[in-house]
Amino acid sequence: MLADGYNFMVSSNEFKQQALSQLIELLRIPSISALPEHKADIERAAGFIESALKTAGMTRTGQIRGAGNPLVYGEWLGAPDQPTILFYGHYDVQPPDPLDEWKSEPFSPTIRGDNLYARGASDDKGQTWILIKAVEWLLTRDGRLPVNVKFLIEGEEESGGEHIEAYLASKPAQLAAGAVVICDTEMFAPEMPTICTGLRGLVYGEIHVEGARQDLHSGVYGGAAPNPLQALAEIICALKDKDGRIRIPGFYDRVEKPSPAEVEAWASLPFDEEKYREAEVGSPALTGEPGFSVFERTWARPTFEVHGIRGGFTGEGAKTVIPARAVAKVSTRLVASQQPGEAIDQITTAVAAACPKGVKAQFKLLHAAAPSLVNTASPYIAKAAAALQETFGARTVYMRSGGSIPVVGLFDRHLGIPSVMMGFGLPDDNLHSPNEKFYLPNFYRGIDATARYLEMLAA
Ligand code: BES
Ligand code: ZN
Repeated sequence: MLADGYNFMVSSNEFKQQALSQLIELLRIPSISALPEHKADIERAAGFIESALKTAGMTRTGQIRGAGNPLVYGEWLGAPDQPTILFYGHYDVQPPDPLDEWKSEPFSPTIRGDNLYARGASDDKGQTWILIKAVEWLLTRDGRLPVNVKFLIEGEEESGGEHIEAYLASKPAQLAAGAVVICDTEMFAPEMPTICTGLRGLVYGEIHVEGARQDLHSGVYGGAAPNPLQALAEIICALKDKDGRIRIPGFYDRVEKPSPAEVEAWASLPFDEEKYREAEVGSPALTGEPGFSVFERTWARPTFEVHGIRGGFTGEGAKTVIPARAVAKVSTRLVASQQPGEAIDQITTAVAAACPKGVKAQFKLLHAAAPSLVNTASPYIAKAAAALQETFGARTVYMRSGGSIPVVGLFDRHLGIPSVMMGFGLPDDNLHSPNEKFYLPNFYRGIDATARYLEMLAA
């Protein structure tokens, strides 16, 4: 099952095969944090992770339970004179819909070719499993680890990761570490080991629009009564123009340009915009702010997106009705140095200002996260780059990502520790979409690279 031509130098093939079968079991659990009916699955997944940490050889494990989904903790602290690494991952996943677009069931993991297909395969159960298995491998082989390790595995990252903040804000002594290592990002391309140096932040919420007291006959009242769906469309257009420029007053005030060194590093990444459009995006044209490259538009500029609109009649056939209310789920991605609190105020004001006559409109916040930038001068980053380079036999590249991992900003803010984002996903892994997959050679090399990283971190 292992692809030929790779240099599996650290852990054995037998160990990797066993790691894969166990990952498949974890992927069978539909631990969808956004849907309350999956609460029991969240609990099962948390239990699965905790027992995996025990099996891996952690000397202490536990679940931090409070409001929200359990945080799973584990530690091995048997190397007193050595650095301590905190590993972060998440065991929750996104909802799998639309179901009819999956070639195999989202929670029946299936291997086709070199890929493992399942919701969470890459984001983030497969990648979390890499971290646990790398540590287990070293403990199995050597009976000890070269450095101290701690694990903090979250269960609600995909729905905002709100509750972890209260825990981190209490500055728990048990999380003390030199750096946090996160395996929840992508590589630039299959053979290019990658360190992610920045993520966008996020403000996610709903725009609620209310018009008439109840739904109305559109022939009898159309022309005199306000239409909340029309109003919603007008509000949305008032927030972003057709060039992709956000029209929320003040929104760009704090946006920083990427550094010249970053711009230079990005320019050296092999990128074919037409191929990206065709193979990755699959749309007739790319959109977005004129004058900015795709990397800038997706990594270093804020965006505003509409995720769903609810309201009116959406069944088969025709119904002539003016709906009384409508809701849009929307988000903005933030970049350094935008601040979530300020962005929330700006959005709230802009929605109210854009509200047309005859309806009431309100922005209701669901969750928010700050953007984050990594200081690449950290020795923890240099050693990660070296371990990746050695395992993949190729130069490590540095890129940012447009996605968000709320906890990254929180580790910095509350614990003052840097994040090392070494991820093994690929741009075509279909994160949050049908047919999510994980490229198995990256799963195996991820285990090896992480194990090598721990060896290299030993003083
Ligand atoms: N792993 C992703 C974030 C990501 C994806 C980083 C690709 C880099 C490359 C993460 O699990 C995720 O999807 N986060 C959500 C966060 C949100 C719901 C708060 C996101 O970005 O939409
Ligand atoms: Zn993730």
